Amino acid sequence: MATTTNNKRLALVQAVSGLAFAVFSTLHLTNTMVSALGPGAYNGFQRVIRPFYQHPVVEILLVAVPLVVHVACAVISVKRRPRARKPPNLRLRLHRYSGYFLALVVFGHTAATRGIMLAFGVPPEFEGLSFSMAWMPQMFYPYYAMLALCGLYHTVYGTTQSLRLLGVRVPAAMSRGPRFWLPLAILGGCLVVGVLSFGGWLYAIEDPMQNDYARVYLEELGMGE
Ligand code: HEM
Repeated sequence: MATTTNNKRLALVQAVSGLAFAVFSTLHLTNTMVSALGPGAYNGFQRVIRPFYQHPVVEILLVAVPLVVHVACAVISVKRRPRARKPPNLRLRLHRYSGYFLALVVFGHTAATRGIMLAFGVPPEFEGLSFSMAWMPQMFYPYYAMLALCGLYHTVYGTTQSLRLLGVRVPAAMSRGPRFWLPLAILGGCLVVGVLSFGGWLYAIEDPMQNDYARVYLEELGMGE
């Protein structure tokens, strides 16, 4: 009895923390898609939404705390999960695998973005992303594409499951079948195009090695030696 109640409570905390963080990740992934319209559009959009998600109250209550709580719940629920007789369906498996990838990289990603901004006063912005892709293309192309696609899938599927768990009626078509996969495929395509734009594949970009973020990495952090 106690275990079932605990598991229900854990699932509830995971759902609520996921929904809270989804406000940020939805804005954030939209920002990545907007990059296809140019560096000015990407930075302009980010400078409009940043004061919201970096407002101390929002950054703590809607970004940082929900993220840590959500990852902690995931670790506990994986530890508690009994071995399944048959593997879960593809959608649930993709949700778990994308969640594992995000849990693995999100704290390093936050350190390389928000951390650099707090330590050196330099927000990465379009230029910082284009630097990383020029500096280590074999790592950052697949990494940003995975971050974007895993983020998209985990946010969309997670939101439908969390709303259902909270008793909100979510039409079945929203989480399976063509009306689920088609929008995901289109949004996924927009994200990949957005990531390619940081590398200068859509339009000409400034020299990626000549900007404040590149200087922090190559000189202040000594990564250029
Ligand atoms: C859903 C997947 C993703 C998650 C969970 C995530 C998480 C985060 C977090 C927690 C921050 C710090 C936010 C803050 O300032 O408080 C951040 C910042 C940032 N991320 Fe991501 N990220 C994701 C996808 C991406 C992608 C795909 C890119 C680009 C390729 C990206 C580029 C950036 C940049 C440039 C910043 C700095 C934002 C700013 O200065 O305002 N992120 N990310």
